[in-house]
Amino acid sequence: MTTDIFHNAHRYGDMTGWRQEAVELHHQGPVHRIEADGFPPFWAVIGHDEVMAVERQPALFTNEPVPVLTTDAVLQMRDEGGPQIRTLIHMDKPDHTDYRRLTNDWFKPANINSMQARLDELSRVAVAKLEAAASNGTGTIDFNTEIAVPYPLQVILSILGLPEGDYERMLQLTQELFGAEDPDLQREGGSPEETAAVLMDFYQYFTGLTADRQANPTDDLATLIANGEIRGEPMPDLEKMGYYVIVATAGHDTTSASMAEGMAQLARNPDQLQLLQEQPELIGNAVEEMIRMASSVRHFMRTAQEDTEVGGQTIKKGDWLMLNYAAANMDPGYFEDPTRFDVTRSNASKHIAFGFGIHFCLGAQLARQELRSLFSHLVPRLASAELEGKATTGKATFVSGYKALPLNYTLN
Ligand code: HEM
Repeated sequence: MTTDIFHNAHRYGDMTGWRQEAVELHHQGPVHRIEADGFPPFWAVIGHDEVMAVERQPALFTNEPVPVLTTDAVLQMRDEGGPQIRTLIHMDKPDHTDYRRLTNDWFKPANINSMQARLDELSRVAVAKLEAAASNGTGTIDFNTEIAVPYPLQVILSILGLPEGDYERMLQLTQELFGAEDPDLQREGGSPEETAAVLMDFYQYFTGLTADRQANPTDDLATLIANGEIRGEPMPDLEKMGYYVIVATAGHDTTSASMAEGMAQLARNPDQLQLLQEQPELIGNAVEEMIRMASSVRHFMRTAQEDTEVGGQTIKKGDWLMLNYAAANMDPGYFEDPTRFDVTRSNASKHIAFGFGIHFCLGAQLARQELRSLFSHLVPRLASAELEGKATTGKATFVSGYKALPLNYTLN
């Protein structure tokens, strides 16, 4: 198989072309063998049903030992004892069950609903930014930098109970971590050593936070993690760190990318914006469609624990499988005309952008509520929106989205 759309970070920089190619690959089968220079061989699982089938069998397809596509060079560093982080997504049963239990309820609707006022406040700030950047109701703004990036980051700072003064630091560290393959985002050359240094910076930051919340507990998520117990024992420091890092990182770039994609789709499809203005009750479904189109978490990896079969392919014990959510959300056998943005799509909410099964996204409810609040506030105010044509996108095989989304708009 010669396609490079799965492992070449640059290919994720043009998602319009990427999606087309993914749709064509579906016609050749749901599972593809990829042998590429610089990476161990792996199977790209792209069929919607096949991704679900793998997710349904977490004992057969484990997240250990390496749950994200990793180069040979980084794997070698890892084997030589380089710094590592252990998060929910690196764990299998029984550890995963115990660690997830710690915060599972915190992320349930009953608790997340209590954040609605904060989300609506941030949505009003977003509208105010559009108003401030307009003269006579017409303006231009980089929607990504001004709205889609700061909004979810403020939410994460709120749930962890961190001060707004830490905004810049968190933003830079997250972008360096997820943008390690992107020359504009990576730290000084993006070498494996530099990526390790980014992790060390996270470590230092959160060590201070743990000490503080142990001495002065509050009702925030950081307090829950800092004082967390697993099987009656204090959670080890490395795992605590993993918990902070996954919440801090998984919680914002992913959501920012979905917000920006949602806005980009509305700008490209004025008929869909108009439909939402006429039928605001469609916003919930539109948000699902935005999250499907964005599929900002492109993949996670699994390792087969036995010889088996997926989508007609023979999988050997030890084989590496990429669950490519972005491609599964473009499965033409599941989503009719999958590259079309359709706010009335009847099965939009059946997307698999949040994964499925025991690792199903912990923050899915929060992310959905953030997008619903933002677009409920924005849609009635946008008389028109148009892309300026200079949108740039991040280049990463794991999580990526827009870097800039210049927008011309007119407000009602
Ligand atoms: C639109 C935004 C988001 C997308 C597309 C997304 C996507 C995903 C995906 C695909 C997974 C892996 C699921 C699997 O393996 O089956 C995941 C896991 C996870 N996500 Fe999200 N996510 C988003 C927002 C968030 C937010 C806001 C948070 C937290 C504040 C969060 C926290 C997590 C955590 C902790 C996990 C690991 C769960 C586990 O392994 O048990 N995510 N997410």
